Amino acid sequence: MAAIELRNIVKIFADPKRARELLTLDNIDLDIDGNDFVCLLGPSGCGKSTLLNIIAGFESSASGQALVDGEIIERPGSDRGVVFQQPTLMPWLSAIDNVAFSLKLKGVAKQERQQRAMEFIDLVG
Ligand SMILES: Nc1ncnc2c1ncn2[C@@H]1O[C@H](COP(=O)(O)OP(=O)(O)OP(=O)(O)O)[C@@H](O)[C@H]1O
Ligand SMILES: [Mg+2]
Repeated sequence: MAAIELRNIVKIFADPKRARELLTLDNIDLDIDGNDFVCLLGPSGCGKSTLLNIIAGFESSASGQALVDGEIIERPGSDRGVVFQQPTLMPWLSAIDNVAFSLKLKGVAKQERQQRAMEFIDLVG
């Protein structure tokens, strides 16, 4: 079983300006194994971010299935991380609380969160 499985993913956006629908993803099939490093390449507007948003659980597909570790993706979860093109830190949180946020979602106790976040802050300076 691949870590990420995409099965016949179809995504359609409404395009109200042109009064039509836009078939953005047309039957995408992809298996990604754990520790794979995969690049999606394609011209602007071909649907790369849309596909990532479906894996992240930010967007749903019109049909098909997206799975992570065999579980159907239905919403965002702390089992997946997204690094956005734009900086998307939570400005009301300190740097350490931003780094530790996914651990908080997982219910890790505060002292351990801070300790593990600090290891990564130290790693990058
Ligand atoms: N929320 C939305 N509503 C309507 N159309 C959308 C929406 N999001 C994306 N689209 C359209 O879907 C298509 C794919 O967009 P997407 O952002 O996935 O492309 P991309 O490959 O990531 O492009 P880029 O390389 O510029 O980041 C584009 O035509 C875009 O205009
Ligand atoms: Mg994009």
